[in-house]
Amino acid sequence: MANTVVVGMHWGDEAKGKVVDWLALHADYVVRYNGGNNAGHTVVVGDETYKFHTVPVGVLHEHVTPVVADGCVLDPKIVVGELANLAQRGVSTARLKISGSAHVIMPWHRLLDALEEQHKGDRKVGTTGRGIGPCYADKMSRVGIRMADLIDPSRFRARLADCLKLKNAIITKVFDAEPLDESAIFEEYSQYAASIAPFVADTDAILAEAVQSDASIVFEGAHATLLDIDYGTYPFVTSSHCVAGGASIGTGVPPTAIDRVIAVAKAYTTRVGAGPCPTELTDAIGDKIRERGNEYGTTTGRPRRCGWFDAVAGRYAARISGATAIAVTLLDVLSTFDTLKICTAYSIDGRKTRDFPADAEILAKAEPIFEELPGWPDDITAARSFDDLPANAQHYVSRLADLVETPVCLIGVGPRRDQTIVLDREILEG
Ligand code: IMP
Repeated sequence: MANTVVVGMHWGDEAKGKVVDWLALHADYVVRYNGGNNAGHTVVVGDETYKFHTVPVGVLHEHVTPVVADGCVLDPKIVVGELANLAQRGVSTARLKISGSAHVIMPWHRLLDALEEQHKGDRKVGTTGRGIGPCYADKMSRVGIRMADLIDPSRFRARLADCLKLKNAIITKVFDAEPLDESAIFEEYSQYAASIAPFVADTDAILAEAVQSDASIVFEGAHATLLDIDYGTYPFVTSSHCVAGGASIGTGVPPTAIDRVIAVAKAYTTRVGAGPCPTELTDAIGDKIRERGNEYGTTTGRPRRCGWFDAVAGRYAARISGATAIAVTLLDVLSTFDTLKICTAYSIDGRKTRDFPADAEILAKAEPIFEELPGWPDDITAARSFDDLPANAQHYVSRLADLVETPVCLIGVGPRRDQTIVLDREILEG
């Protein structure tokens, strides 16, 4: 069976959850490989809406083993809450596996995320405030606490004392803020540890066995290519490897075991937080897209910045992540516009280019060059095949695929699982 990475094409929120949910119908494992509860994946099944921040979307399928792998960071309080919520709604989490190597988001990470953002002033990233950056920074500095430490009381006590000595010095002496209380944290986090411990496992070994036995794995990417720590629009990025290559780094599954990469792209572009977004519309059209697409953050509720589809960024993302196909989501949001635009090139310092400059300073100077296409008045939410779409919608999708130089395998025409047009069944069914 094929192993497939699902990765976001632009700056996140591309409705990857829905695509992963589709793929999960035919998968054995669904694996989160990066990020933490800064991600928000929504799946609508019938009248039920599920919002995930840490647990992989695949948990909704009884035949799937959901895995949170090594490259992720976890906030124990959020994990415990998410598990309780799923249990309350009758969703079994019994098969969930969490890597012992995944790092733990501690209270000082959230506090320092806020204090560092304040300190940056105009240069702030606009983080989700979930402590993600400081947690990954500690991982790289080799002073982090991992899940395996958290669930071993004596290891946890020692690591906590060690970490807090330094963190409290920074909190009080650099930021002039109140220190954190070690015994209160130990009490609280020991309780979370007891709830999470049954799920902690050697996920590398489990996935190696899955590869060996020819099981089918879906890698559920969080955030998106342009938020990647190395290949995104630094410094306006998150702190993990969001690109498809991150699936290998974040799980221990070798690159040679990955067969396909589906890049998920909205039919338009959005961004939350600070940083350049060349096609952003700050007018009534942008507002209309936001309202029609309900473009408010799943995690923070912040209004998303909306703009026309950026094919320059899309082509870059498809290259960096090695996309073998694209899934175009939220096409229905573009119904009722008289004309639509796609950004085909940038003008930077008077020079036209189709190459994406990931350097935020250069990207900030990019002026989009648009191609105009006719819109369609019709509601397309009932379309279930490409032929059901109005000719102008078909043309829009085909043009987008041409510009990104990647074929389309799936089109989303509404939030529900069934509001999906499948163009390439083989890709989706493995
Ligand atoms: P952090 O990941 O909270 O450190 O935030 C860093 C940047 O990434 C901010 O601009 C966030 O808005 C953005 N970001 C992080 N996760 C997501 C996501 O899942 N969707 C969209 N933007 C995100």
